[in-house]
Amino acid sequence: MKILSGRKALVTGAGSGIGRECALALAGAGALVLVNDVSESAAHATCTAIAGAGGTAHAHVASVADPDAVHRLFEQFDAEGNAPDILVNNAGVSGNGPTLDLADANWMRVVGINLNGPFYCSRAAGLRMRAAGGGTIVNIGSIYSVVAAPQRLSYCTTKAAIGMMTKCLALEWAEFGIRVNCVAPGYVDSALTRELAATGRLDLAAVERRIPQHRLGQASEIADAVLYLCEPRSAHITGHILTVDGGWTANGYL
Ligand SMILES: NC(=O)c1ccc[n+]([C@@H]2O[C@H](COP(=O)([O-])OP(=O)(O)OC[C@H]3O[C@@H](n4cnc5c(N)ncnc54)[C@H](O)[C@@H]3O)[C@@H](O)[C@H]2O)c1
Repeated sequence: MKILSGRKALVTGAGSGIGRECALALAGAGALVLVNDVSESAAHATCTAIAGAGGTAHAHVASVADPDAVHRLFEQFDAEGNAPDILVNNAGVSGNGPTLDLADANWMRVVGINLNGPFYCSRAAGLRMRAAGGGTIVNIGSIYSVVAAPQRLSYCTTKAAIGMMTKCLALEWAEFGIRVNCVAPGYVDSALTRELAATGRLDLAAVERRIPQHRLGQASEIADAVLYLCEPRSAHITGHILTVDGGWTANGYL
């Protein structure tokens, strides 16, 4: 028996980067992983990797920003007897650019995926977790859940809101045995970061200078923190924002 044997874990945006590593880590700990992504090929690739490592996973293609799609997703889980008792709200997109040029559609896109998605998924999962007597939710925030940056209004605002959503739900659902925490990564080596750097919207050398450890995080280091918050040994931790950032948010200097 592994520590999460018998548990069912939904990871959103699990086709790439941090979500993929979370899915692999949860499967490695024995959970059945429900791999969600908006990209069908990416979701299937993660399931193949999990199966190759001896774990069990099912691919579920849906956009978390679409409330009807999320509703259908959870109905499918119910029909298959796989209502999740672990939820990792990971799917997220960046939104870099000057606020005075920010189009309504871009604002709505980031809010839809980064904020509405976790709400739709948490509400649907919370209903089932309450009925089952408990569960665990981990939201993927960011250093921008706790500190600000210019030219990232939609990203910073949604990530700050995820931090507050974490605390509100932790308070409201403690009596149902549901824990809600947030892992707040600093800059991580992932497709999202590489795309920002490749398009000139992120100066990676400057970022590495600013981090006290002078290196980006690895997606597996974020997954380790998520795994800890899903395990019984973190049973007394709820409403917490855990930064995993090489010291970025501690640094009040250069
Ligand atoms: N990479 C970083 O440096 C960093 C830092 C802090 C926080 N984060 C956060 O970590 C999370 C994952 O980031 P990443 O770097 O692994 O990104 P990524 O781009 O590598 O992966 C994101 C995944 O989410 C999927 N996705 C996008 N929209 C979706 C939707 N509407 N519904 C379902 N899936 C969708 C994408 O297809 C992709 O597979 C995000 O919430 C991000 O904000 C990342």
